[in-house]
Amino acid sequence: MFNNNKSILVIGGAGYIGSHVVLGLCDKGYDVTIFDNLSTGNEINVDSRAQFIKGDILNSDELNILFNQSYDAVFHFAALKAAGESMLKPGKYAIANITGTINILNQMVESDVQIIVFSSTAAVYGMPEYLPVDENHPLNPINFYGFTKLEIERLLHWFSDLKGIRFAALRYFNAAGYDLQGRIKGLEQNPANLLPIVMEVATGGINGSMQVFGDDYDTPDGTGIRDYIHVSDLAVAHIKVMDYLMHKKANLTINLATGYGFSVLDIINMAKAVTGHEIPYEIVDRRPGDSAELVAVSKLAQEMFNWKCEYSDIETILESMWNVYRE
Ligand code: WQD
Repeated sequence: MFNNNKSILVIGGAGYIGSHVVLGLCDKGYDVTIFDNLSTGNEINVDSRAQFIKGDILNSDELNILFNQSYDAVFHFAALKAAGESMLKPGKYAIANITGTINILNQMVESDVQIIVFSSTAAVYGMPEYLPVDENHPLNPINFYGFTKLEIERLLHWFSDLKGIRFAALRYFNAAGYDLQGRIKGLEQNPANLLPIVMEVATGGINGSMQVFGDDYDTPDGTGIRDYIHVSDLAVAHIKVMDYLMHKKANLTINLATGYGFSVLDIINMAKAVTGHEIPYEIVDRRPGDSAELVAVSKLAQEMFNWKCEYSDIETILESMWNVYRE
């Protein structure tokens, strides 16, 4: 096993993306501390190789104790992420996401920790004005969730200018899939995203049927097209980004995406083939705020630290999910 001697804090490390990044860090021999309030994270996703501290980024005392140890870098995954709910409860999202991040940044400044890798989102772009979306695309979030993430990106720039923080803001497109070795088993409760819903329906859950939000978009089969990226590819990118920040005095704001799009019906049909189960669905009205198509390029990630997707073909994504869901 490697020994990196570097101490890494993963805030939100029991959640879906955070737990996959923790696996990658522990596999590489980093000394990992997970901080998570387990509100949506799952204790069974906590890697036994990591130190786990239960706590909340809104609790300054708990954060203060957490930073009694020193860290070489911080990953920040702790956030509320349901775009629909954010439109009904903006105050809740502002506090959890924006105030929570300010607390982390203040604590980093106080403890002289300089590097942060932040989970941003495609939602900072809003409705695509051109495709594929690159990092120069205008930033016009159309939901409050995306607004909170964009505000945090802006805060990161200020903390960098004023306090020497070095950051990466990683704008994920549609994260999907599970660890190929089956080491993450905690499923998201009440999923709102397409792939977990498809998987649950394949197991006979969610009343054995799902809804397709619109079949009258200007796409080949009329259903929405998205860029699905395997969470293990995201994890690899996070660790490369961290290495980059440790060696270069720079900030990064980059897309993490595959450049390929699949429609809702593509996904349902491929999931039928992968799972061997029917996925009954009904076509309903479009979901407000959905675009016809969202596909992005990750040219910067490729150019700057030689990252490309390895696990994001759609069969691998679906098979890795089915291995977890069918249990
Ligand atoms: C994908 C496609 C739906 C559910 C969201 C957030 C975004 C990011 C990723 C965090 C769309 C269709 C879905 C269903 C359906 N999150 N669909 N029936 O909306 O692209 O992105 O998750 O950062 O910010 O907005 O993902 O998985 O909800 O939808 O037909 O029951 O599936 O209309 O075309 P989305 P999704």
